[in-house]
Amino acid sequence: MRLKNCHNTARLRELAKKRLPGPIFHYIDGAADDEVTYRRNTEAFDDCDLVPNVLAGVESVDMTTTVMGQKLDMPLFLAPTALQRLFHHDGERAVGKAAEKFGTMFGISSLGTVSIEEIASRIKTPKMFQLYFHKDKGLTKNMIDRCKEADFDCLALTVDTIVGGNRERDLCTGFTSPPRLTLTSLMSFAAHPAWALNYFAREKFELSQIKDYAKAGTNISTSVSDYFSNMLDQSMNWKDAEEVCQYWGKPFALKGVMSVADARKAVDIGASAIMVSNHGGRQLDGSRTPFDQLAEIVDAVGHQIDVICDGGIRRGTHVLKALSVGAKACSGGRFYLYALAAAGELGVEKALSNLKGEIERDMKLMGCKSIADLSRDNLRFRQ
Ligand code: FNR
Ligand code: LAC
Repeated sequence: MRLKNCHNTARLRELAKKRLPGPIFHYIDGAADDEVTYRRNTEAFDDCDLVPNVLAGVESVDMTTTVMGQKLDMPLFLAPTALQRLFHHDGERAVGKAAEKFGTMFGISSLGTVSIEEIASRIKTPKMFQLYFHKDKGLTKNMIDRCKEADFDCLALTVDTIVGGNRERDLCTGFTSPPRLTLTSLMSFAAHPAWALNYFAREKFELSQIKDYAKAGTNISTSVSDYFSNMLDQSMNWKDAEEVCQYWGKPFALKGVMSVADARKAVDIGASAIMVSNHGGRQLDGSRTPFDQLAEIVDAVGHQIDVICDGGIRRGTHVLKALSVGAKACSGGRFYLYALAAAGELGVEKALSNLKGEIERDMKLMGCKSIADLSRDNLRFRQ
């Protein structure tokens, strides 16, 4: 299978599965417990039908949106994801360049593998830094200070990883960051020589934001769940979130809000946005999906704060359904990570091109000339 024939996310996933050693593919593809939420995150969009209008004169459509004060050329941005140079040796460098080409925002994780400073110098498109609130307060403050210095546009504090999710695929494969060199892992690397050559022959893998404070994840192999449980501050509370928001002083989002009560508290602490998210089903299995939860959150706080729908996005219609409910923008991880693993920067460009093309075509078929034309009048929920 070749990249040019990957016309959708499912085909990019297949190509990623071919290109990656099993443990690494399953780290991306996997989720928590029985992965019910992971599946529902996408299935939820199928429970909602679109009602198009016609004869609307849609020769050209405007799909731009503004979220967290950033104008995006398309209403889908790349959510922050960890360990990207494990998936492709160019990692965040490739993802950032593709995001820049499509004029959309991308997120850099606290567990990213290219430094904040390098990304800021290379990539000229809206940039979000995703903060994990570490027990080591010096590390947490250092990351915020570096993002201020590097003039990052937005900060997202992730609030749904207070402990690691039960990632049973990772337990079965023994996935760690960096990968442990065991007989099993070496066999999976040997079966993927292109990946192995790039991983071992190129720049040493590291958690660029963390490495000067902790060896875990860079020089000491650890599972992501263990990293969360050992390194993140489980006492984090609303006062801490408010202090981070105030110290950052620029557009600030809470990533992983799912309840109306928490959405209201996010407004109270001065957040600019909330990412309605269950971490792609990787944390609390059984959690409701962001799309299912979206309407009640938009109705409660959508007039006070930007509401972003994060997770399960695999098609342009998924984005349009979320925007019709009232999301300002959508974000996703796997849709571009499969593409990164499949073909680096060209892969991520292909993923964004596929989805941008679907969004444009589907807006025309719905009779919508701009995002403002989308509303719940376009939707009928089946149950
Ligand atoms: C993630 N996600 C994530 N979120 C976060 O706040 N910090 C992180 O470092 C990561 N890392 C990460 C790695 C991988 C491999 C995946 C799949 C996801 C979650 C991510 O930001 C986003 O919330 C989900 O990916 C959304 O679900 P979809 O789009 O993958 O279905
Ligand atoms: C994950 C973490 C890194 O979901 O957010 O793997």
